[in-house]
Amino acid sequence: MSSPTAGATALDLADPTTFVRNDPLAFWSEVRDRSPVYWHDGRAGRPGFWVVSRYADVLASYADAARLSSARGTVLDVLLRGDDSAGGRMLAVTDRPRHRELRSVMLRAFSPRVLGEVVGRVERRAEELVRRVTGVGGFDFATEVAEHLPMGTICDLLSVPAADRADLLRWNKSALSSDEADVDPYAAVEARNQILLYFVDLAERRRARPGDDVVSMVATVTVGGKLLSIEEVALNCYSLILGGDESSRVSAICAVKAFADFPDQWRAVRDGAVAVDTAVEEVVRWATPAMHFARTATTDLELGGRQVRAGDIVTLWNLSANFDEREFDRPGRFAVARTPNRHVSFGHGPHFCLGAHLGRAELRALLTALAGAVRGIEMTGSPQRVYSNFLNGYRTLPVTFVGR
Ligand code: HEM
Repeated sequence: MSSPTAGATALDLADPTTFVRNDPLAFWSEVRDRSPVYWHDGRAGRPGFWVVSRYADVLASYADAARLSSARGTVLDVLLRGDDSAGGRMLAVTDRPRHRELRSVMLRAFSPRVLGEVVGRVERRAEELVRRVTGVGGFDFATEVAEHLPMGTICDLLSVPAADRADLLRWNKSALSSDEADVDPYAAVEARNQILLYFVDLAERRRARPGDDVVSMVATVTVGGKLLSIEEVALNCYSLILGGDESSRVSAICAVKAFADFPDQWRAVRDGAVAVDTAVEEVVRWATPAMHFARTATTDLELGGRQVRAGDIVTLWNLSANFDEREFDRPGRFAVARTPNRHVSFGHGPHFCLGAHLGRAELRALLTALAGAVRGIEMTGSPQRVYSNFLNGYRTLPVTFVGR
């Protein structure tokens, strides 16, 4: 099978260092033109996989959940090592009809009443965090601000007791394998197990004595007359951290970096020339926090003129689709006023991000807080990229905020 192997395009997409060393935008532009759907050979003993790069093909693949399954896993790294152990039990890695049932349960966690309260707290938290770092000189936006927004929000959503939050935050930090190249994989697995066990315990307690909160709701709801297993409750509570923490964090970091890189775009937001909601969409496109999501073909099918076989891994590259010239006018420009802006950062189709409203609300709160307090944003050093072929963005961002 042909694959783009000439010169700069011979990138190993399964290797996280690829994205630290190379400019992905130039690579993807060439792939979209020359080999929009290609077979990526297996390397270093790992299986091969399909790479889908054009916006239209990525969108169609997300929509085709019947032939492109999520149940074996949706992250390339996991699929190359075997099946996702949460397959069929955790929303993101479940196919219909079970997916539809689980989704309707989890959607209740995002009812307007619950969300209204959570969003109000996000706004206050963002204001407080921004106020603390404005006018104080250099600081790391990633650790001082971005790290505190999403986990606080998810803990609010799940009504995690205040006394338990420090433990959860500590485990979650060790569970994140993508922050450093030399992270101990066993410590990360151990931390993930701790989080799961924590939610098993919380789910059991809330099932026994339900309150007016999301964990109680998921623990007591019946689907077709049956309760979810305690494991399913725990996995799906954890999935909100998995889905919502890092993606929101890197988006916030990307927002501030983009405003430092393009001060005219910051002025447009700060002075109200562009609506915050419009700017949020461009931040999410520019950030593209999940570089890809993956699927497994359930049957032979044709994709972008190529023949995919049942059982093949198919990767959908948001990082390419969001910068496809066929969909976006001058996609390489960060333009906060961009409309339309039909990016795929939140996915598309049946698995469309459950937390999109909340993710947007967090960024809206951040941009609003910044516009209220900050005149100028300047970088004071080089940011460090996340070490991953899935999560896109930076893990440090040295900056100063000049007060208004
Ligand atoms: C699904 C991105 C924030 C929870 C997804 C998917 C994407 C995505 C691309 C689709 C995955 C697929 O098709 O396989 C993002 C981005 C975010 C964000 C870019 C922030 C900027 C959140 C938040 C939460 C969340 C805040 C929860 C609190 C979920 C869940 C799913 C999901 C549970 C699985 C939905 C399903 O399979 O039906 N997200 N997400 N996400 N997201 Fe998000």
